[in-house]
Amino acid sequence: MQTERLNPDEDGIGRAARLLTAGEVVAVPTETVYGLAGNARNAEAVARIYAAKGRPSFNPLIVHVADREAAGRIGVFGDEARQLAALWPGALTLVVPLREAAGIASLVTAGLETVALRVPAHPVARALLRRFGGPLAAPSANVSGRISPTTAAHVLDPDGGLDGRIAAVLDGGACPVGLESTIVGWREGRATLLRPGGVPVDAIEAVIGPLAQPGELAAPDAPGQLSSHYAPNAPLRLNADAPREGETFIAFGPGPLTLSPRADTTEAAARLFDVLRQADRLGRPIAVARVPDEGLGLAINDRLRRAAAPR
Ligand code: TXA
Ligand code: MG
Repeated sequence: MQTERLNPDEDGIGRAARLLTAGEVVAVPTETVYGLAGNARNAEAVARIYAAKGRPSFNPLIVHVADREAAGRIGVFGDEARQLAALWPGALTLVVPLREAAGIASLVTAGLETVALRVPAHPVARALLRRFGGPLAAPSANVSGRISPTTAAHVLDPDGGLDGRIAAVLDGGACPVGLESTIVGWREGRATLLRPGGVPVDAIEAVIGPLAQPGELAAPDAPGQLSSHYAPNAPLRLNADAPREGETFIAFGPGPLTLSPRADTTEAAARLFDVLRQADRLGRPIAVARVPDEGLGLAINDRLRRAAAPR
């Protein structure tokens, strides 16, 4: 794929919005770092983000929106979250309960019931969000394991960048903050610093008082408390050739319940969390067919192994 270089003007932003509508992924400047954006409501577009980054596992992604109203349609804001949202637009991400009806692809949240939301301040990101007219999922626009890019040249770096792996980059110059957003979530009802970043902790504590650090909580390792990953209730058997008596079988290829009817790892990634939930709802042990380690298969298998690990 030839990666288009787009100027941050009407034409460039219009082109980026059309590519996003078509399900492509585009690198976009924000005030923190460049993000690799895709339509947060299109599971295959989100799968393309992971594929381009070569991420070995599915971490939940930040959903970028144009304003607080749009954020409120996707997440549920308690008192403290509402107070912190007054710091938007800016380098602050809030992890709040997800509204199912918002239609965010489950791959964005990695199957969690919470969603990370941010209203970016960068004028190019804001113009694109308005033009596109919906939420954009975007992790930092680097290949997995590399440092976050703060210029379009970093995004396209011939040594380990995304040139040729993404549809386009919108060149908005250097990112003014240059460091990822601060992430705040709620653990056991307490506002908790999940990642330090572009907005200083002081500025947050000035609004809602002291933040908990994840380590300070009463039972940091209690199952389901800090476990940031979705896992089914039912036991999971991997690399199954066929179901055993009483098992629900998840196929890779044709089948009544399948990760991908066409045995494609990008399609399987897009469907993974929904299919796991569907199987889990049937209340029987689950067997999953072997998924090849190619493309997004590595990330799928990583997530399946975690889901199958004894708890
Ligand atoms: O400044 C930034 O935050 C940049 C720009 C592009 O917005 N984005 C960024 O995304 O740094 P990424 O994917 O590299 O980091 C997102 C972080 C991950 O550590 C992820 O685990 C966490 O956000 N996260 C996302 N959703 C979450 C959730 N529901 N619960 C807990 N953590 C979440
Ligand atoms: Mg990153």
